[in-house]
Amino acid sequence: PARYGVVGNPIAHSRSPYIHETFAHQTGISLSYERIQAPLDRFADTVQAFFQEGGSGLNVTVPFKEQAFDLAQAHLHPRADLAGAVNTLWLHDGAIQGDNTDGVGLLDDLVRLGHPPGGCRILLVGAGGAARGVMFPLLQAGCAKLRVVNRTPDRARQLRDHVAQRVPSFAVKLEAGGLPEAEGAWDIVINATSSSLDQTSPDLPAGLYAQGALAYDMVYAAQSTPFMQQALASGAAQAADGLGMLVAQAAASFAIWHGVAPDITQVMEGLRGQLA
Ligand code: ATR
Repeated sequence: PARYGVVGNPIAHSRSPYIHETFAHQTGISLSYERIQAPLDRFADTVQAFFQEGGSGLNVTVPFKEQAFDLAQAHLHPRADLAGAVNTLWLHDGAIQGDNTDGVGLLDDLVRLGHPPGGCRILLVGAGGAARGVMFPLLQAGCAKLRVVNRTPDRARQLRDHVAQRVPSFAVKLEAGGLPEAEGAWDIVINATSSSLDQTSPDLPAGLYAQGALAYDMVYAAQSTPFMQQALASGAAQAADGLGMLVAQAAASFAIWHGVAPDITQVMEGLRGQLA
């Protein structure tokens, strides 16, 4: 069977093999999918060896998404270009191609949750790679406004400038500032910080949620995250974690490689059960 895999460091806890094997089973495609731990200073060699040995496609995770971007520089999808990061690699005519499906994964999950971003006022909290990876799809989907706020305000402003320079038509909808500048009424608030990994929540002002608003944490866990709890206590109508985004970005990679879009609900239920 065709060989696929996920490269990261560490990689032991990656859910990607389960997800892709379940998709393959669903769609009747035969494949193998392995975890590959690349040494921190040997990412490119590891990827090249995989493809030279006949591998068909790779997912890329922490901390290699920026290096994957460099590797696929000559054959990059525009949304990966804006994200500055690549999570999906494959070979076409002997050249390594790269794309980033994280943003579209978030988009698909927002739609699944009944909150398509079109026309919405969106607050994005955080200014690291996770935030940068989802800005283009949110803007492209026609949100009314996107404000990026971060504990270190300069990083949020740099992110706004990065996007506005590349896609000038987005500039009018794009705002940036520190956490106190989160003040406002938002339809969707997305936590793209790593705060939940430390069991804390970003220090946001109260009263951010418009009627019917969704709070979305890009991190996922067995229990609701501190950000989700804070959001529900301060007026959000609904809160979700990032499990759906994880599965939807994998589904989008699967569709690139195999030309078939798998169903994500079965995998989500399976993973939710494994987390519990
Ligand atoms: P990633 O690639 O996962 O986004 P990163 O580049 O390290 O990782 O960014 C982490 C993000 O989480 C940053 O926006 C960081 O804020 P700073 O830029 O001010 O460091 C944010 N972050 C982490 N812990 C946080 C906390 N407890 N409260 C608020 N923001 C936090």
